[in-house]
Amino acid sequence: MKVLVTGGAGFIGSHLVDKLINEGYKVAVIDDLSNGNLDFINKKAQFVEADIISQNFFQVFTKLNPKIVFHLAAQSSINKSLKNPSLDIEVNLIATQKLLDLSKSTNVDKFIFASSSAVYKPADLLPLKEDAPKEPISLYGVSKLCSEYLIRNFYKLYNLPCFSLRLANVYGPRQDSGAEGGVVAIFLHNVLSEKISKIHGNGKQTRDFIYVSDVIGAFMKSLEKEVVGEFNIGTAKETSINDLIEILSRIANSKIDRAYTSLPYPEVQRSALAYDKFRQSTGWNPKVNLEEGLSITYDYFKNL
Ligand SMILES: NC(=O)c1ccc[n+]([C@@H]2O[C@H](COP(=O)([O-])OP(=O)(O)OC[C@H]3O[C@@H](n4cnc5c(N)ncnc54)[C@H](O)[C@@H]3O)[C@@H](O)[C@H]2O)c1
Repeated sequence: MKVLVTGGAGFIGSHLVDKLINEGYKVAVIDDLSNGNLDFINKKAQFVEADIISQNFFQVFTKLNPKIVFHLAAQSSINKSLKNPSLDIEVNLIATQKLLDLSKSTNVDKFIFASSSAVYKPADLLPLKEDAPKEPISLYGVSKLCSEYLIRNFYKLYNLPCFSLRLANVYGPRQDSGAEGGVVAIFLHNVLSEKISKIHGNGKQTRDFIYVSDVIGAFMKSLEKEVVGEFNIGTAKETSINDLIEILSRIANSKIDRAYTSLPYPEVQRSALAYDKFRQSTGWNPKVNLEEGLSITYDYFKNL
């Protein structure tokens, strides 16, 4: 059975491709390499370098003719989004509808979308369940939420099993450690290159950090089980940025120099996702605790 992973050259997508290939699936990757890395793409995958908003995407998709679509390609750079908001809408929203249309016309069996905790209204009563109020504070969150609505609407109209996994803050090997990368990767890069880590605000803001192999486990469960709708994929635990720095300092056996700075855009103060709905539907549980996952990630960045 052929599986397509859009964004399969990126951090999460490339791990998903590796796992699918290990499990015996035939895998195709579509990625424009805007944030992906050729070296991350499994050699056994069929790779097509293509932009999901380009004119010729229709031909590319039809030729690949996948039975399962994992849609992970996304524009998630805040700076790009602030400079060119329409790009977020084109890549993260319009392309989702195009992919759904193509999935229908080529008889795809299942469509799985990487959504985000960014869809929720910031709240203090945590961990958030799927029915918590939605009110994204970023365009990225808006585009993810609207994509979820497109997907839900599509399911109702055509009964194509399609659903959205709302991922918490994913970390692990291969994460981008550049300015727009994940906070864990950025801090690890800084500690290994003896740079100061910038912390936005007072560092008391919390996130739900989930190790990438647990997220891949959730994607694999979503292949095996008959589920539809929206599901949180997190650990239900909050960790503050200050605590994260402390744990990383311990693992790296080095003090992490930090500078507190203000943020030019609003930020969610606290975040954690309850995962009971997905656990009850599929039996999935996160397995890797934070210390363990951070140690593996530290070793990866150290040996680069
Ligand atoms: N990393 C996280 O913490 C996190 C949390 C919540 C949701 N997500 C979602 O999971 C998915 C994967 O995230 P990631 O962290 O691996 O990001 P990533 O940037 O590493 O991967 C995204 C991939 O999509 C590709 N891409 C971007 N625009 C494209 C386009 N127009 N056409 C084709 N390819 C394009 C990029 O080159 C990149 O390889 C994204 O949809 C993201 O929004 C990630």
